[in-house]
Amino acid sequence: PVVYVITPTFARPVQKAELTRLSQTFMLVQNLHWIIVEDSKQKTALVSNLLKNSNLNYTHLINMTPPQWKLKQKEQRWRKPRGVTQRNAGLTWLRESKKPAVDRGVVYFADDDNTYTVQILNEMRYTRKASVWPVGLVGGLMVEKPNIDPDTGRVSSWNSAWRPERKFPIDMAGFAINLRILLEKPSVKFSYQVERGYLETDILSQVTTPEELEPLADNCTKVLVWHTRSQNPNLEAENRLARKSLPPSNAGIEV
Ligand code: UGA
Ligand code: MN
Repeated sequence: PVVYVITPTFARPVQKAELTRLSQTFMLVQNLHWIIVEDSKQKTALVSNLLKNSNLNYTHLINMTPPQWKLKQKEQRWRKPRGVTQRNAGLTWLRESKKPAVDRGVVYFADDDNTYTVQILNEMRYTRKASVWPVGLVGGLMVEKPNIDPDTGRVSSWNSAWRPERKFPIDMAGFAINLRILLEKPSVKFSYQVERGYLETDILSQVTTPEELEPLADNCTKVLVWHTRSQNPNLEAENRLARKSLPPSNAGIEV
């Protein structure tokens, strides 16, 4: 089976660093296909070249967030859901180019800022319906995770602290869905019409139930992905150069 990874991404000072970390992890995984969806009007040279210079199988798409859903410069990020139409564009591409009968695989929604292990990418490959595992550094906790009943091997509860009443109180980085399921149910997609923090519960509810989830990462006892977030770099001196109309430090250099 192929691991299809769908990654929304957008231009900002740390973008190349984030995508480099991701691509160099993905290069260590066999049979991985990276579907990278730029939140921009055109494909950028930065992303195009990064993909070309990797030896990954990839599909490069563009999909702009509708203006009314785009975060403003100073707006706090939780104000609006992120990556919604980009992930849907990835799903549409899969549906238009894959036939369920011939294509075996799994779909993982990997944001561009998190940290992923080769191990979890290989484990998720064999997902029958939907698999889950712990995510480090998210939801106000060191780890958010499903608790597994040792007798049944099924999810019996969750340790999440943020909106624990959600049906699937888990981050985007903590689950993967079988490709065939997504191809057989073409209506399954992400939606803006959900409460804050309900993107994951909304999509998982469309394909599975908590009882059916397949626990990975040693019965959800290991952290194999982290919800990391890069700090915005201090670019005060750079902005000073711009104000004085002096050349930027990165003139002719892609950062
Ligand atoms: C959390 C979850 O980890 C996300 O999967 C979820 O989409 C998000 O909450 C949400 O509720 O919308 P968080 O770290 O706050 O994540 O989200 P970001 O990492 O800021 O954004 C998620 C993805 O969308 C990233 O891959 C990012 O590059 C992309 N994005 C963000 C865009 O494509 N365009 C933007 O304008 C902003
Ligand atoms: Mn993030």
